[in-house]
Amino acid sequence: MTDLPPRLVSGIQPSGELHLGNYFGAIAQFVKLQEEYAGNCFVFIADYHALTTVRDAEKLRTSVFDVAASYLALGLDPSKVTLFRQSDVVEHVELSWMLASVTGMGLLERAHSFKDKIAKGIRPSVGLFYYPVLMAADILVYDASVVPVGKDQVQHVEMTQDMATHFNEAFGGAEPVLRRPEYRLSPVAKVPGIDGEKMSKSYDNTIPIFMTGKKLKKKVAGVVTDSKALGDPLDPETCNVFALLKMFVHGEEREELAGWYRAGARDGAPFGYGHAKQLLAAKIDAHFADARAKYEAFQADPSQVDAVLEAGAKRAKAVAGATMDRVRKATGLR
Ligand code: ADP
Ligand code: TRP
Repeated sequence: MTDLPPRLVSGIQPSGELHLGNYFGAIAQFVKLQEEYAGNCFVFIADYHALTTVRDAEKLRTSVFDVAASYLALGLDPSKVTLFRQSDVVEHVELSWMLASVTGMGLLERAHSFKDKIAKGIRPSVGLFYYPVLMAADILVYDASVVPVGKDQVQHVEMTQDMATHFNEAFGGAEPVLRRPEYRLSPVAKVPGIDGEKMSKSYDNTIPIFMTGKKLKKKVAGVVTDSKALGDPLDPETCNVFALLKMFVHGEEREELAGWYRAGARDGAPFGYGHAKQLLAAKIDAHFADARAKYEAFQADPSQVDAVLEAGAKRAKAVAGATMDRVRKATGLR
């Protein structure tokens, strides 16, 4: 495995509508990095992972398509990125078994996301427990050097590093068999949800990327604030609306906004949370207007998305297949 190029791998689960956390925590980062890693980016839709929670075949198919269409609409370029469906490359599952065979139970028992999900009352299936092993295989099967993710996924990438090391210790000779990846945290590592907790599909606190108009205004109106009255000085640092606005306004514009907050006034008129929310809805609507039009066009004509996924699967399979030849040989399997 010498002379491998720098390579980027990441994925998102098709388990619900994509939201601002997915965009600023993950997708925006993929779009930015696709230039630097052009030709060596593998971005997929983690449908095997979604099976741990989704129990409706039609819903899963729709969500897979929606994530693919979102990736494309938001700027992933198939000439730079190999975009594919995880389940089109069964090698992920094969490698996951090999990794599981060298992974201690203790490593998986320490997973925060597993513990959090159990604490929230999700029934612990073996699949949910095994999830970090499959995720490690997703990464290692492409010899990834970098994995862009949000903060919640960092521990999974660290576990991937451990599994690569354990595998190399068990089966590597003079040469390691698997490449150890690094995570890349996005500048916006944790986007708050409308309740101020981490925005997440599982917490029912999201603002979907492509929501617009009245629905969006209603959603944004639900962002939790304290009960200061209109005209009172407000603290931008502790405000959930401001935390969300920060992703859309920068530099001087952000300073000016913070000034309105602290004064509780804008141009001599009172400024309150209602105004900040109106501004937030307008920013979201405008920021994603072009992408939303593209997304709607893909929904109207799915053939383009299907073709991208098909071509992506072929390319991904070729790379994963080469890794598996190496891995099978190292383990003594045929
Ligand atoms: P969810 O928690 O909504 O199920 P996923 O686990 O599918 O989201 O996350 C997909 C990607 O989006 C991951 O890289 C994750 O780190 C990132 N992400 C999800 N929610 C957020 C958030 N609130 N802030 C930053 N990044 C996030
Ligand atoms: N576990 C990730 C999430 O829930 C999705 C994912 C699966 C992933 N496999 C991956 C992310 C490999 C990065 C690399 O967000």
